[in-house]
Amino acid sequence: MPSAPPFMAELILRRPTMHLRWLGLSVDDPDAGRRVRTFAALTLAGWGLGGLLDSVQLCASELLGNCVKHARLYGRWQVGVALRAWPAWLVLEVSDDDPRPPVLPTPDVEDDPEALLATRRRGLGIVRELADDVWWQPRESGGKTVLARFATGKRWSR
Ligand SMILES: Nc1ncnc2c1ncn2[C@@H]1O[C@H](COP(=O)(O)OP(=O)(O)OP(=O)(O)O)[C@@H](O)[C@H]1O
Ligand SMILES: [Mg+2]
Repeated sequence: MPSAPPFMAELILRRPTMHLRWLGLSVDDPDAGRRVRTFAALTLAGWGLGGLLDSVQLCASELLGNCVKHARLYGRWQVGVALRAWPAWLVLEVSDDDPRPPVLPTPDVEDDPEALLATRRRGLGIVRELADDVWWQPRESGGKTVLARFATGKRWSR
């Protein structure tokens, strides 16, 4: 018997000063990683921000991987991935239902280039290296959102 299709929902908002595109999916969807990378590629191409694609795809993969690896026992097993763009900034947001915060790399780890060669706890170090800033915030509905901010270096191209 065919199984139910994985949960997936999409939201698009366009405002004069901010664009938002959101993708919701199940972390038990075996295609979740590919869907998120495709979502990033289509969104950034549409916004004229293709130059950020490699970094955003890698960071999105790491943050999604963290939801699967660390937050799987919580809530509805759903993850939200949002891309939000202002003229000067692109923000990647990955939300899950686990209220526990991520353990962000400390400054001494950041200053040690070999930290990126570690075989564990290297994901958020990579995100911190590629993004201009990374932080997290609790969600009103429970769980949390991890955010990574990238300078676009330009104004809207459209
Ligand atoms: N979404 C999350 N929910 C709960 N805890 C998290 C989440 N993301 C990260 N963490 C915590 O932050 C730590 C650091 O995350 P990081 O991605 O750097 O390393 P890792 O996931 O343990 O290993 P790696 O990314 O190298 O496979 C994790 O070990 C985990 O304790
Ligand atoms: Mg990780």
